Amino acid sequence: MPKDTAFDFIIHCMAAKPNPATRIETLREQLRHHEHLYYVQDAPEISDAEYDRMMNELRALEAEHPELLTSDSPTQRVGGKPKEGFAKVAHSRPMLSLDNAYNEDELRAWEKRVRDLLGENETVDFVCEFKMDGLSLALQYAPDKHGTAQLIRGITRGDGSIGEDVTTNVRTVRSIPLSVPAKKLKAAKVPPTFEVRGEIILPQASFIKLNAEREAQGLPPAANPRNMAAGTIRTLEPNIVAQRRLDYYAYFLLHGEGLLAGEELLPQQSKSLDALAALGFRVNKNRSTTRTMDGILKFIAEADAVRDSLAYEIDGVVIKVDSAAQQAQLGFTGKAPRWAIAYKFPARAGVTQLEDVLFQVGRTGKVTPVAALAPVFIGGTTVSRATLHNADEIARLGPEGTALRIGDTVTVERGGDVIPKVVGVVVDKAHPRGKREIHFPKNCPECHSHLVRAEGEADWRCINATCPARLREGLLHFASRGVMNIEGLGEAVVAQLLESGKVHSIADLYKLDNDFLLTLERMGPKSVENLLAEIEKSKSAALDRVLFGLGIRFVGERTAELLAEHFGSMDDLMAADAAHLEQVQEVGPRIAQAIVEFFSEAKNRKLVESLRKAGLTFTAEKKVRTEKLAGLTFVLTGTLPNMSRDEAKEKIEAAGGRVSGSVSKKTSYVVAGEEAGSKLDKARELNVPVIDEDAFVKMLV
Ligand code: IVH
Repeated sequence: MPKDTAFDFIIHCMAAKPNPATRIETLREQLRHHEHLYYVQDAPEISDAEYDRMMNELRALEAEHPELLTSDSPTQRVGGKPKEGFAKVAHSRPMLSLDNAYNEDELRAWEKRVRDLLGENETVDFVCEFKMDGLSLALQYAPDKHGTAQLIRGITRGDGSIGEDVTTNVRTVRSIPLSVPAKKLKAAKVPPTFEVRGEIILPQASFIKLNAEREAQGLPPAANPRNMAAGTIRTLEPNIVAQRRLDYYAYFLLHGEGLLAGEELLPQQSKSLDALAALGFRVNKNRSTTRTMDGILKFIAEADAVRDSLAYEIDGVVIKVDSAAQQAQLGFTGKAPRWAIAYKFPARAGVTQLEDVLFQVGRTGKVTPVAALAPVFIGGTTVSRATLHNADEIARLGPEGTALRIGDTVTVERGGDVIPKVVGVVVDKAHPRGKREIHFPKNCPECHSHLVRAEGEADWRCINATCPARLREGLLHFASRGVMNIEGLGEAVVAQLLESGKVHSIADLYKLDNDFLLTLERMGPKSVENLLAEIEKSKSAALDRVLFGLGIRFVGERTAELLAEHFGSMDDLMAADAAHLEQVQEVGPRIAQAIVEFFSEAKNRKLVESLRKAGLTFTAEKKVRTEKLAGLTFVLTGTLPNMSRDEAKEKIEAAGGRVSGSVSKKTSYVVAGEEAGSKLDKARELNVPVIDEDAFVKMLV
């Protein structure tokens, strides 16, 4: 099959299957199947490229036949933005919360109450589930005229009675089915009007990546995945939500009128969970049914043991009475059901004393206050340092918004891979307030130049470009894994290099020789040979690594990648002005400005020249991102009603497509406006689809 252009592919498929409606339906079914395998089962069967190809074919067919477009098509996950925030909507039934148990005694007390209320002779099955640490979200489905259940609404918990309609964002979560076919509903004994409740979460890996990006952009990191998930689901930009890879775990299936898990059709929570999985929802596989407290405790112990190795955060275990009839008998107290309880893991927090505050200068000159703590054991590690973020944080961390003091007893939290942080001060009779005030330095602790705080920013910075601390951190960053990956260039070696006076910039690393390195402490012939080999190897690291390694403010790993792909060379990037830089995906005025500033400094240009001389990689393959219009070639002709040809061109390129000046059989679409001339004739002659501005704009959304 010819694969070189989407157009050829389309023609091929259309020749084989002349009916576009059938082809569209087949593609949708295949795409849904592969999305389920990928996003729900974690077991993909086809490559991303194959998936993209099918998606592009479907997109092209739908653009050609807009009358066949449906809202549950896999192409329709990212739709229009909600314009003015999110509408408030009432929940179909209250979204309750759970009572908590913090230890075995509290759990046993709950079990006793359940058994007392149900009567001694009753057998009770308990379902144990992971308590996912995210936000609860309701999904409402209703049938269309074919009996297919369509996702009509996604609602946040809100106050439990009224939540926010976040449907546009929810639709971007790939593990949430946009529709469930009648066949599946029937097989699972679920009526086509139903509601799913579950937890929206941000996987650990996405959290770490997003936080690294935030830090590279000079933004404060989010405290935990839960906060970031909460912020994301309420973002007014569905495109951003789609990129963040939220995930959804279903734990309740509601139908009929009642509030209970299953009711008459599915009279058990365990069966409801199986039904949810059969309908295509992601249901946590870590679940188990037991009749005994020993069984419950075993499940909790196992959950605790695997907790750190999971791809997402859990903060406990939820135990539910399995039978819907028994649930009905037990009923509710105030805001929580009697038939369920949340066993909460002890928080990963510790209480210790603040012994001192140190001030560290980072590679961008930012000065971070770091708490020196009396060592405390938290969640498996000893913590003796924790971040205090910035001067503002110190000024308000004490009780009632007072300033923190040295000697205070502080609460320290540690979550996943996040740097431990001081979250508050404990004051009572046994823990009086500390005595010593904390003075944020006015001068850089390393080079003593005056610190500067830009208007509106929380951070103080050392702006001396030759500050040894900045150079040290810059070298360590450059050499680190994920950047230039120069193994053996750790803190001890870097400190000696700086002390020797031989290294004044990252470019000087490429001038190091055998004889000199042998003079360093703890460097024998073998380690010198290894280090030189590592430095040599780094010369072939890709352009985006070099860019990331330069330490330009706000240019993190991903931005560097996008820049390298867009410009294809260091020279073109250096020559770009702010307007051109802003054309790069995800580059806004702030980042563009920082890049322009960086390259306008003579010292930095000299550094780049030295790196070029040293033989580092300065070119990259220009690559079009697989996006909306990836693989498609457009020809523009005539006058479009609402945008200039240049604007249209920009839009196509921004979405990963290409624009060509002449129509050939490789052209995917001709976008024609008023007074289109010979290009239109040529398109007709070659059977190239011709679309108007309206159809074109729809392809971009
Ligand atoms: S059942 C009637 N099951 O924990 C309330 N909740 O502390 C039903 N959560 O609001 C909740 N995993 O956001 C249930 N397997 C699970 C859960 C779970 C996480 C969250 C949910 C709920 C909160 C209660």
